[in-house]
Amino acid sequence: MPVRSWFPTYIYHAPLARRANALRRELLRECHQLRDHDEAGRRWSKKNYPGGYTSYASLCRLHRMSSTFMDLQKCIDRHVLVFARHLDLDLDGRELVMTDCWVNIMPHLAAHSLHLHPLSTISGTFYVKTPRGCSSLKFEDPRLSKFMAAPPRRASMRPENQQFVSYPAEAGHLILFESWLRHEVTANRMAAERISISFNYNWF
Ligand code: NI
Repeated sequence: MPVRSWFPTYIYHAPLARRANALRRELLRECHQLRDHDEAGRRWSKKNYPGGYTSYASLCRLHRMSSTFMDLQKCIDRHVLVFARHLDLDLDGRELVMTDCWVNIMPHLAAHSLHLHPLSTISGTFYVKTPRGCSSLKFEDPRLSKFMAAPPRRASMRPENQQFVSYPAEAGHLILFESWLRHEVTANRMAAERISISFNYNWF
């Protein structure tokens, strides 16, 4: 074959761990507790996360505050190592460390528009509660802004030639990606809340 593909974009998707249900249940309880007690976060969300609650601006180091979130961090660390190996990152003796970890609660119609995670290396999300049919995580081709005079792709294109890819939110699973990759969560059309925990890793 004369054509080879280069410069791939990797996305990692896996169950957190076997028998992680008890941890997930405890996380769910703490997510609700956080929303109930985090007045500053609720105020910030009102302005910046319409219809939903995120602790992104108020309590964003939950892995250092709660032993439950610390347990989650330990589980995620293992996946991040595997992903970093797949990316061929040469960490030069340094470590990828979780720097931020926060909660997102998206009730009916809450959305999170396109963004990336600046100043981080690897980012991701763990799904705590995902009512059937709730919004997925949608990634866009990072080269999209460079496409000039690019014809559309055939409906029968190879999956890797898509310009967008959506990962369904699946409770108990996590998704990892490089932090520069733009993504969004479209409006939650389901009546029940979609709850996730997002995080960043950096290289120290
Ligand atoms: Ni994000």
